[in-house]
Amino acid sequence: MNDRSDVRIAFINQKGGVGKTTLTLNCAVGWARLGFRVLMVDLDPQAHLTLSLGDSLTDASLERIENSTIEAALRREKPLMECIFEVPAEAVSLVPSHIDLSGAEGELSQELGRELLLRDALDTLDDSFDLVLLDCPPSLGLLSLNALAAADEVVVPVQAEYLALQGMAQLMKVITLVQQRLHPGLKWNAVVPTMVDPRTRLSREVVEELRRHFPDQLTRTQIPSRVKVAEAPSFGLSIFGHDPTGPAAGEIEDLCQELIERLSLSIPEPDTAI
Ligand SMILES: Nc1ncnc2c1ncn2[C@@H]1O[C@H](COP(=O)(O)OP(=O)(O)OP(=O)(O)O)[C@@H](O)[C@H]1O
Ligand SMILES: [Mg+2]
Repeated sequence: MNDRSDVRIAFINQKGGVGKTTLTLNCAVGWARLGFRVLMVDLDPQAHLTLSLGDSLTDASLERIENSTIEAALRREKPLMECIFEVPAEAVSLVPSHIDLSGAEGELSQELGRELLLRDALDTLDDSFDLVLLDCPPSLGLLSLNALAAADEVVVPVQAEYLALQGMAQLMKVITLVQQRLHPGLKWNAVVPTMVDPRTRLSREVVEELRRHFPDQLTRTQIPSRVKVAEAPSFGLSIFGHDPTGPAAGEIEDLCQELIERLSLSIPEPDTAI
C-alpha cells in the first residue's frame, strides 16, 4: 500500500444496463456537493459516461478530447494527468473514453502486467482528488480487471428486475480471484438496488433476494426508477443539475451519505466544501 490519499471506487457489474454509468455520475456529483474532489474515469468503450457529459464540456475540451482519452493513458501515450477534463457545470472531472478503447483492450491483453495498467496510471496523479470513480463496461474483460486491481472499494449496482442475480456468482468469483492474486486490499461493501419500482411485487422480491444473498453488502438506500434520472444525460447533466429539488436527487444524497459510512470515507474539511 502506498501513501496516496485518494479512495478509488469501481462501479461494476458485467450485466448491461443496470445503472452503473448513471450511478457513477450521480454519486460523483453528490459527493462533489459535499466537498469531495471527484474524478470519474470512463472505462467503457461505449463511452456513455463521456457522451452523457458532452453538453457540459467546454468547446476547447471537446476539441482536445479525441487524443486524450483513457485509451491514451493505458497505452502510455499520454500522462493520465493530461487526459483529465473538468466538467464545470457539475464541479467534477472526467477521464473520457472512446470507442477505440475496445481495440486497445485486445492489444493491451498481450502486455506483461496488463491488469495493472490503470493502477499504475492512477498512481501518477498528484493528490488533486479525494475520490476516483471507475465506470466499468458490461463485461469482465481486461478493462474491468484493471478497475478491480486499481480500486479500493467495489460498488455493485443491481437492477431490481427478473434475472437480477444472474452473473453475480461469477462477479464474486472474479473479485475473490483478484483479491487472492493481485490485490488483497480490495474491499466489497456495497450492493445497490437500482431502478426499483416498490409498487411491483417483482421489484420487492428481487430486493429481498439480494438481502438474502448479500446481507452485509446490500445498501438500505434503494434507487427507484425515475424519469428525471433517465432524462438528465440528454442535457449533459447529473440529476442534481437537471432536477436538484426532486425526489431522485434526495435519494442519491441518501446513498452518498450511506456509502460515506459503509466505505469509511473521510469527509473533507468544511472550508474546502463548495
Ligand atoms: N434510477 C433510474 N431511473 C430511471 N432510469 C434509469 C435509472 N438508472 C439508469 N436508468 C436508465 O437505464 C439505462 C441504463 O443505465 P446505465 O447506462 O446507467 O446502465 P449501465 O449499467 O451503465 O449500462 P452499460 O452496461 O451499457 O454500461 C439508461 O437508459 C439510464 O438512463
Ligand atoms: Mg455504462
